[in-house]
Amino acid sequence: MKPLHVVILAAGQGSRMKSALPKVLHRIAGKPMLHHVMDTARQLGAERIHGVIGHGADQVRAVTPADDVQWALQEQQLGTGHAVAQALPNLPDDARVLILYGDVPLTRSETLEALVSRGSDQSIGLLTVTLDNPDGYGRILRNDQGAVTAIVEQKDATPDQKAVKEVNTGILAVTAGQLKAWIPSLSDANAQGEYYLTDIIAMAAKAGIAVEVAQPETEYEVQGVNNRIQLAVLERWYQQQQAERLMTEGASLADPARVDVRGELTVGQDVLIDVNAVFEGKVTLDSGVSIGPNCVLRDCHVGANTRIESHCIIDGAIIGQHAQVGPFARLRPGTELADRTKVGNFVETKKARVGEGSKINHLSYVGDATLGRDVNVGAGTITCNYDGVNKHQTTIQDGVFVGSNASLVAPLTLGQNGTIGAGSTITRDVAADELSVARGKQRNIPNWQRPEKKE
Ligand code: UD1
Ligand code: MG
Repeated sequence: MKPLHVVILAAGQGSRMKSALPKVLHRIAGKPMLHHVMDTARQLGAERIHGVIGHGADQVRAVTPADDVQWALQEQQLGTGHAVAQALPNLPDDARVLILYGDVPLTRSETLEALVSRGSDQSIGLLTVTLDNPDGYGRILRNDQGAVTAIVEQKDATPDQKAVKEVNTGILAVTAGQLKAWIPSLSDANAQGEYYLTDIIAMAAKAGIAVEVAQPETEYEVQGVNNRIQLAVLERWYQQQQAERLMTEGASLADPARVDVRGELTVGQDVLIDVNAVFEGKVTLDSGVSIGPNCVLRDCHVGANTRIESHCIIDGAIIGQHAQVGPFARLRPGTELADRTKVGNFVETKKARVGEGSKINHLSYVGDATLGRDVNVGAGTITCNYDGVNKHQTTIQDGVFVGSNASLVAPLTLGQNGTIGAGSTITRDVAADELSVARGKQRNIPNWQRPEKKE
């Protein structure tokens, strides 16, 4: 099989976005549109991806990992044919070429596979779509036998041609040989004074090359983004697809319209997701997990049958089975909660490994800490991990009971089954089985006279 090279046109300004950010870097599901297109190209097995960039080229390059990407700069936007011409010298002569667009982000790879299979030395694959309102698009012209003979841009079209509802998506599959033969003879003698890539269709038809049409399953797949309204429409379509996938895989969604997946979410069976959940990065929810309303989960793994109550932010954490988190908990990167742990309301953890059965139920900060099994951390406990310059570790061994409102000044080790009195500021290690209390002794003064207000 000849190598597949994908050319992505992304040089346009996107002035209707009203943005300092180049249009193709605007995000769908948390990922720049251009990267969606590149990932699709990779799914198709592209040997190389050619990005044609112009407006905001430096910004685009800076955020795009580029092992398999070769850039071509189009300094002036003289039309889609001119844009492809910039990548032409980088295309091997024997390549199959697929032309995509940085602002058409959600074409399914299945659709493109079907299109690519229609391109060959004797044919061109053209992706078209039939629209009730074809306004603005290039129209597909066919002869009496139904064969495609040309594409005419709206601005160059006669009233009869404008009535045609089959339009050009812009996406096509050709060979490098065909492009190298036809692109140099494009002309800009048309209504917009541009070099139209679409003119190669008439050249193909004249040369006896068949134009073989493929169509997408839905219009959304070929919708381009010119403004933020269209961006939002595609975002919602993408999210609806995600929601349907999750339900198909065994998750129940309280409202499929109120879950957002901005990354890769993997779910087991009988997962429950309440409203307004946002998932970012790589998240795995094992079977039987439930996520309460208004939670954000990023790059984390939640073990089977664990409950995440409402209003939690979970970032870079690994949570075991049958655990309970929240409501209102914030787990930061490096948190590892073992099975049957409990982290309750207004608790923040960071780089904290919490052993099986341990509980941090209320109002605590636990950072740079290792907790053994069956530890109980009382309300208001703080690991004082930062001395203003360096971070220090706290180690709390199995079975320790920390009374409420304790300050644990790190570095510190609390030995097995030790007890910390409520309100203590602990600055020295505590041995196994010891009780440590470090607080002012209570005095009770009888008949205390309060001061009186001065006149
Ligand atoms: C193009 C097609 C039209 C099709 C429509 C689908 C041509 C001549 N017309 O029209 O048949 O129905 O797309 O949306 O191809 N670009 C560059 N450099 C340029 C010009 C464009 O990189 O010099 C990029 C743009 O950033 C954009 C894409 O190519 O992503 C399409 O360009 P645009 O100007 O929007 O073409 P249309 O007039 O919409
Ligand atoms: Mg356009």
